[in-house]
Amino acid sequence: MEVILAKKAGFCFGVQKAIDMVYDEANSSNNNIYTYGPIIHNEEVVSDLESKGVKAINFDENELNDLSDCTVVIRSHGVGKNIYDSLEQRNCDVVDATCPFVKKIHNIVKEESEKGKTIIIVGSEYHPEVEGIKGWVNGDAFIVDNEDDARGIDLNPETPVCIVSQTTYNPEKFAKLVEIIGEKGYDSNVVNTICNATNERQKEAKEIAGKVDAMIVIGGKNSSNTQKLYEICKNECENTFYIQTAKDMDFEKLKDFEKVGITAGASTPKNIIEEVHTKCQR
Ligand code: F3S
Repeated sequence: MEVILAKKAGFCFGVQKAIDMVYDEANSSNNNIYTYGPIIHNEEVVSDLESKGVKAINFDENELNDLSDCTVVIRSHGVGKNIYDSLEQRNCDVVDATCPFVKKIHNIVKEESEKGKTIIIVGSEYHPEVEGIKGWVNGDAFIVDNEDDARGIDLNPETPVCIVSQTTYNPEKFAKLVEIIGEKGYDSNVVNTICNATNERQKEAKEIAGKVDAMIVIGGKNSSNTQKLYEICKNECENTFYIQTAKDMDFEKLKDFEKVGITAGASTPKNIIEEVHTKCQR
């Protein structure tokens, strides 16, 4: 049986970097270590970190009050400036694992808002990344997540505007919302800050699923990006299996197929992907 493993299966570069940083910190520091929110949406990784003394806490700014003299890892989603300020006041060391692509958006909205531009963030209002981006805007920011939001933007027509996007936003939806805002005639500077890691993972999965007899998609049950990968693969390949770990796969079943493809969602650890890969090759 031939097995094709997607090169872009699993963690994107930003998440991998954040995870490496937490493990490095856990292995080298004697401080109490917290991650500002779970480092990724994967229970195995979170509990493995817990066993190394790293606690994932979903604090809001008030809960920061309980912390002092510890290390706090900022995950790849990033946070607003107020959080860095609070941590500094509490004497906490910060390990900043904000993805550089997200950091770039922070810098854009900070600089552009300081120049007097009104910032519009295309993204989901309560997504931590969007909250973080908003936290770097000097002044007001508008969040636009659908056509009604875009139509509802009502600024003085002379207002200079800067539009950015959540990194994981759908490119077509972004273009549509920008078009609606564009009809209002503002002097707008549109910066497409969508990261193509998700797109590339999906494109590759589609390509592989199109040429194999069976396709395995690995990822959490509740992971929306894995569900999306599954749909894409299922469209191309009828025999697509959605599994969380190697335990969910009946490898005997695969023996009927000549060519099998494997991909994985954005929060699937490498060891799980490798285990599935190895078992397919037996
Ligand atoms: Fe990942 Fe950073 Fe893109 S966290 S999805 S590489 S913005």
